[in-house]
Amino acid sequence: MDSGSRTKDMWDANLYDGNHSFVSQYGTGLIELLSPKKGEKILDLGCGTGDLAKNLAGLGADVVGVDKSENMVFQAQNKYPELSFVVQDVTQLSFQEDFDAVFSNATLHWVKQPEKALKSIFTCLKKGGRFVAEFGGKGNVQLITDEIIHQLGKAGFLFDRDAFPWYYPSIGEYSNLMEKIGFRVTFAQHFDRPTQLVGDDGLKNWIHMFASDFFEGVSEDVRDSIISSVENELKDTLYKNGHWYADYKRIRVIGIK
Ligand code: BEZ
Repeated sequence: MDSGSRTKDMWDANLYDGNHSFVSQYGTGLIELLSPKKGEKILDLGCGTGDLAKNLAGLGADVVGVDKSENMVFQAQNKYPELSFVVQDVTQLSFQEDFDAVFSNATLHWVKQPEKALKSIFTCLKKGGRFVAEFGGKGNVQLITDEIIHQLGKAGFLFDRDAFPWYYPSIGEYSNLMEKIGFRVTFAQHFDRPTQLVGDDGLKNWIHMFASDFFEGVSEDVRDSIISSVENELKDTLYKNGHWYADYKRIRVIGIK
């Protein structure tokens, strides 16, 4: 995604803005935790289609948005031409002591080299700058992923745990890593956030959008029948009052350089 063409990018920016806009809606709470001041230079890490960067700019911050996905950056730049967006990998950011804060919502669970990412974030920050992040924590979407893996097994596909697409640390593990890199951890929280998905196909759409890695080498027919079985098995637990809910668990951290 960082160096490939737009067509190779797994992210569908329009679908993201349409069915998954809750991602940036929840991010507004994280902006309160960041508490940006007018004129601060802020890096929005994993900016997606730019909505939170726009909110930060509206509060008077001087924002740069970065995302690994060319599709997302392309969409963000089209939506908000007055802001700056660049395609960069979180583990190889090009900035050096440029920012008062690095802000990141719902991105770092995609980064399976957390230490490399934290080093890169640390380097971007001015001395005394802060890193404020929220992402999937230990146990995130576990009901959904355990059921996908169970149904894959029943269909004869053994899931290789190394192919698990996300990194979901506890706050103990992540705070330790932050301290190892040099951050002073001033805040760490782990909490449940059952997240309403859009429409009767909400769970199916979520799996299609985010969990395609589980279905490498599985034909479309078999994949669709596995997803139907996942829906049937999870309906009693995750479908309430006419809505699907994903069993999100988040961590929030603040670290000072
Ligand atoms: C999350 O925000 O927790 C998440 C989003 C997509 C895939 C996995 C986790």
